[in-house]
Amino acid sequence: MLEVSVCVGSSCHLKGSYEIIKRFEAMIEAQSLEEWVVLKAAFCLGRCTDGVSVKVGEHFLEHVTPTNAEDMFLRHVTEECKK
Ligand code: FES
Repeated sequence: MLEVSVCVGSSCHLKGSYEIIKRFEAMIEAQSLEEWVVLKAAFCLGRCTDGVSVKVGEHFLEHVTPTNAEDMFLRHVTEECKK
């Protein structure tokens, strides 16, 4: 199971965490990844200036935005599930 944590700390929240979570949820459903990916909300990941911070397994993604959320998901989550 691949754990994907989206920071919902105040800095990341202001940059669109909840919109990103909604888009990730839609991607998981559209790609039927429910058995492979667990999506979680996380408190501050300590990278506020790089937010919205997202952790995929042990890797951090930075500068995730509602606009690039689908692309980031495809490149970092979908690809990871195929390995
Ligand atoms: S609030 Fe998101 S990394 Fe600090």
